[in-house]
Amino acid sequence: MNITAMCFSPNGNTKKIVCTIAKSINENFKIIDFTLPQIRENEYKFSSKDLIVIGVPVYAGRVPNVLLKFLDKIKGEDSLCVPVVVYGNRNYDDALIELKTILENNGFCAIAGGAFVAQHAFSKILAKNRPDSEDLAKANDFGKQIADKLNTSHKFKSVKVNGFTPIREYYKPRDRAGNFINILKVKPKTKTELCDNCGICANACPMGSISKENPSEIKGICIKCCACEKKCPTGAKYFDDEGYLYHKTELELEYTRRAEPEIFI
Ligand SMILES: Cc1cc2nc3c(=O)[nH]c(=O)nc-3n(C[C@H](O)[C@H](O)[C@H](O)COP(=O)(O)O)c2cc1C
Ligand code: SF4
Ligand code: SF4
Repeated sequence: MNITAMCFSPNGNTKKIVCTIAKSINENFKIIDFTLPQIRENEYKFSSKDLIVIGVPVYAGRVPNVLLKFLDKIKGEDSLCVPVVVYGNRNYDDALIELKTILENNGFCAIAGGAFVAQHAFSKILAKNRPDSEDLAKANDFGKQIADKLNTSHKFKSVKVNGFTPIREYYKPRDRAGNFINILKVKPKTKTELCDNCGICANACPMGSISKENPSEIKGICIKCCACEKKCPTGAKYFDDEGYLYHKTELELEYTRRAEPEIFI
């Protein structure tokens, strides 16, 4: 079997988990990182000799909707897959079953699946420093179990994973009064006095939305991945939208328990 790790990972955590799993199946795995928009223009075809370990972060309890068009361009032909979702300690809701269904509708059989935990992109404290060594040990062990399955079976059945069918609505944040809010249009701001035009944020934006000429300008849509804020070396990028900041605080207060990875095999 050829093993390929595929991921969307603005802050690098999904990539860490997917690569740990793939490496544990076979050290000689290939990697396709589709975080940047130019990579998502490609189409990918796999054969019956391929297994892909494919990971996306959970956004609003689902597969990030900006990825749906690209994911539909990953085609298998009797190929195997391991869908993996990575979430920020709240819940992965229907993201795993959604990713599995997309892949199985395109010629793959999911022989295993997993939901892992990473530091929430919005927060400096929610699931801080995860995935940690325990998470990575679980990812490594999951890879070994997949390798055993590959070595001991010839016919594979689709694995059952948690989630609802039909898939539920996207998770919606609320304001202080408990009313649903829409943060779709929220974008980061820039402290221009701190910005030295280094270009790091524009090169990191998975939507290609930050102007290279003027990094304060967000030309396209913002998915609130927070990569620009986290990667800016001078701390120039920030969010000041009240609803967004309240949502972040509410998550930090409500989801203090340690969510553990769940695997299905
Ligand atoms: C727009 C957005 C929505 C998110 N929604 C959820 C969610 O519904 N549940 C959850 O537990 N974490 C949620 N998260 C946290 C991400 O799943 C977490 O930050 C992600 O795993 C980071 O992946 P990366 O490091 O590969 O970018 C959300 C993050 C963002 C940016
Ligand atoms: S502008 Fe939005 S989408 Fe682009 S890196 Fe920043 S937070 Fe992510
Ligand atoms: S990463 Fe920070 S300093 Fe560099 S261009 Fe972007 S906002 Fe400016």
